[in-house]
Amino acid sequence: MSTEPKRYLITSALPYANGPLHIGHIGGAYLNADIYTRYLRSKGKEVVFICGSDEHGAAITLRAKKEQKSPREIVDFYHQLMHQSFVDLGISFDEYHRTSSEEHKAMSQSIFLELEKNGQFEVETSQQYFDEEANQFLADRYIVGTCPKCANDKAYGDQCEKCGSSLSPMELINPHSTLSGSKPVLKETSHWFLPMAHHESWIREYIQEGKLDGLQHHDSKEWKSHVVGQCMSWIDGGLQSRAMTRDLDWGVPVPLAGADGKVLYVWLDAPIGYITNTKVWADKHGKNWEDYWKSDDTRLIHFIGKDNIVFHCIIFPIILKAHGSFILPHNVPANEFMNLEGDKISTSRNWAVWLHEYLLDFPERQDELRYVLCSIMPEQKDSEFTWNDFKDRVNNELADILGNFVNRVFVLIHKYYNGVLPELNGEASDAEKNAGRDAFTAYQAVGQKIEDYRFREALAEAMNIARVGNKLLTETEPWKLIKTDPEAAARILHACVNFVADAAFCLHPFLPFTAEKIRKALHIEWPSWDHLGQASLVGSGHIIGDLPILFAKITDEEVAAQVQKLEQSKLASIAQNKPEIKDPIDFDTFQKMDIRLVKILEAEAVPKTKKLLKLKVDTGVDQRTVVSGIAEHYAPADVIGKTVLFLANLAPREIKGIKSEGMILMAENAVQGLSLISAVKEMEAGDNVK
Ligand code: 2FM
Ligand code: ZN
Repeated sequence: MSTEPKRYLITSALPYANGPLHIGHIGGAYLNADIYTRYLRSKGKEVVFICGSDEHGAAITLRAKKEQKSPREIVDFYHQLMHQSFVDLGISFDEYHRTSSEEHKAMSQSIFLELEKNGQFEVETSQQYFDEEANQFLADRYIVGTCPKCANDKAYGDQCEKCGSSLSPMELINPHSTLSGSKPVLKETSHWFLPMAHHESWIREYIQEGKLDGLQHHDSKEWKSHVVGQCMSWIDGGLQSRAMTRDLDWGVPVPLAGADGKVLYVWLDAPIGYITNTKVWADKHGKNWEDYWKSDDTRLIHFIGKDNIVFHCIIFPIILKAHGSFILPHNVPANEFMNLEGDKISTSRNWAVWLHEYLLDFPERQDELRYVLCSIMPEQKDSEFTWNDFKDRVNNELADILGNFVNRVFVLIHKYYNGVLPELNGEASDAEKNAGRDAFTAYQAVGQKIEDYRFREALAEAMNIARVGNKLLTETEPWKLIKTDPEAAARILHACVNFVADAAFCLHPFLPFTAEKIRKALHIEWPSWDHLGQASLVGSGHIIGDLPILFAKITDEEVAAQVQKLEQSKLASIAQNKPEIKDPIDFDTFQKMDIRLVKILEAEAVPKTKKLLKLKVDTGVDQRTVVSGIAEHYAPADVIGKTVLFLANLAPREIKGIKSEGMILMAENAVQGLSLISAVKEMEAGDNVK
């Protein structure tokens, strides 16, 4: 387990090729993996960094339907766009392939067949949701309903994006098809199920104790607690059999007789993409992919976002082990989510900073984004990106601390020594010794923090080297010493050039473009990571070159333009996403609804919920209790005394143990959220609406 592995296999979640990449993706599973990989490469490790586009599943077919294109057109377009954006941001994958490729079809079909041969599936005829109007079975993503955990009424059949719960379509309350809007019916179909409960005992041991087949496989304490926590709550909730095939016409065909019209489940096919893409890379480089996937001395690490945890920590490991010859992940350092300007990032609501747009709007400023995203990486909890914070971090940290230090040192060496690093003479002062010790402590910490997946702290430590250098310059003022104590001035500037080199080297996994500019200007080569600290990177007599400008400050105008762009795209998406008019109903049906005005008399939060208020309302004929999901939009004090629209004859329901009689009616959009509705004239409780 903790013995040094012979090689590392690093993967980042294969992003769906159904839309462009945004900053949440990058801070979630790509930048951290890239930093980790660059660090390992710098240590001289054998490492391969694998990713690619996830091109199957309903995420793709839904997008195709929305854009009135074929799935092929969609994946071709977004695969190319994403790949280019990754390259431009310096995410240094060794291979970026695609799951719609022939290589992947062959790999995933062969793994499926092996599992089938090993008797790992149970073919079950089950009831699945079917849309009678669209005449097709509904993939989980095509079914929307109310989340049983948080009451979000836009939860998908596989997942609630609001509370992050993994769901199955049967758990949704009031499901409806996104194809036709109709209520789906249950219809029989046969599928190949993975009986996950058979694997419960070993997967529990693997997650909880890091043991596999009775041996220590990894140190479970090295796993993030939210990852272990999410897995254990899944396992404790009972592992359900999961269908590994789907009735769909886009995906890898099930390679068995009698399985016409069926494809592999996207969550079976996608992680196998890691294997396919390793093989594609290995074939190109004369390597054997099986060394990476079937050899115990390979360390496999999956970088993912938190919505992918159970797939990578439970389902995929079960598939790998059930197959028989694959290794299992050593760690899955999942990140949490990054929010944007106070709201969740959302592709459908166009509330995102798109990577390809950032790269166009801020050309040659990749490291500014990498720096900020790493500084606010949601490693242990959700975090938030704002453009003002972006400006502050770039200007006050990158430009003022790092850029300023490097620039001062280059200016001083050119001014006083014509660019030639001076000789070392005389005894170092306490200030010099302290600086040397502090810089050494910082760069030792950088590597350790990276290995612990603490990228924010690692970056802060690397920046500390520049801070140490700045402090030494400020404390000792070598531009004055040059006249009074030239030996001291020479020693200090010699040290500072080396701090510049050390800082740039330690920062190279984080800021590869900037580090490269500094390296070239210093006229040096990088050592291996483990040699840092053993000898100076730049010696006396060495001639340094000219430093290009490292960081320009971000202006208020640039920030305002980005914020305005976000607001505009949100408004545009609201205009585009107005709900369609529902199917007609007859007048009698409408007449059956008792819609009236009620006055809210009392309001209080429902304990242990975020969204619910318990209200007492006057209907004009009685007073009753109703539970309403408005707590995120209204405080109790804001609603008391309001006269609002109400559906009075909705059958009573019990919500959180409270009998709720009727429903407060609301208007909703993405900017305002929910709004109570009042009459235009002053009206009274009990007034009828018709
Ligand atoms: O959530 C997602 O974006 C998925 N496409 C991730 C797949 S990761 C792996 F399994 F390929
Ligand atoms: Zn939910």
